[in-house]
Amino acid sequence: MTPSADPPALRLPFDASGLAADPLTTERLRLRPLETSDAPDVWEYQRLPEVLRYIPWPERSEEEAYEHTRTRAGMRRLVAAGDGVILAMELVGEPSVAADQAAGRNRVVGDVMLRVSNAEHAQLEIGWVLHPAFQGRGLAAEAAGAALAFAFERLRPHRVQAILDARNTASARLCERLGMRREATILEEEFHDGAWEDTAIYGILAREWAERG
Ligand SMILES: CC(C)(COP(=O)(O)OP(=O)(O)OC[C@H]1O[C@@H](n2cnc3c(N)ncnc32)[C@H](O)[C@@H]1OP(=O)(O)O)[C@@H](O)C(=O)NCCC(=O)NCCS
Repeated sequence: MTPSADPPALRLPFDASGLAADPLTTERLRLRPLETSDAPDVWEYQRLPEVLRYIPWPERSEEEAYEHTRTRAGMRRLVAAGDGVILAMELVGEPSVAADQAAGRNRVVGDVMLRVSNAEHAQLEIGWVLHPAFQGRGLAAEAAGAALAFAFERLRPHRVQAILDARNTASARLCERLGMRREATILEEEFHDGAWEDTAIYGILAREWAERG
């Protein structure tokens, strides 16, 4: 047990709608809540088998995927365990595949999820997905780093975790790049396509994040 004077307290409720008007910005990206109108861009990565390989999304038809984006776009308020928000990763200067490109819309190349794992104990989860054509450039690290910084600053979690398929080495490398520590490998936690699969859990504590500067 680690002694601490401070009881855990996530700053809830939190409404992410404010980020629509005032997005998080990084060198190359804008991060703001996912919108229903992002569905064409999201479909470009959600339809790819290599993207679905390690995330708990079933194969969806285009129509089902648009409905899924609509549902995820509606996730704005964090109040209790299980509540999440999806931050769209707009790559600045890359045109959206959506029909209304005339508006000069940036393409959504991936997204970052922040979810309340446990409100009482101030635990959050982070997750990510990036279109393969945009991987290998540090964009996921840029987005996840900004989302983590925002989360620690605004929501005040005691710890943030990422839950991975243990074979997902790209995601594990990203966790390590963010300063997250491998805390556990859970053997044969899920059964998919005729085989048992292991889960990896990475975590970072608020004080560890602060020490990174
Ligand atoms: C997990 C995932 C987001 C990682 O994407 P990524 O682009 O590899 O991640 P990063 O942004 O950290 O980029 C790192 C790579 O870019 C390279 N890179 C190039 N320029 C860089 C820069 N300016 N800064 C940092 N890295 C840079 C790094 O060397 C590294 O390459 P490596 O993986 O060959 O070592 C991606 O693989 C993905 O979306 N997978 C499918 C969905 C999925 O599995 N999601 C996770 C579920 S838990």
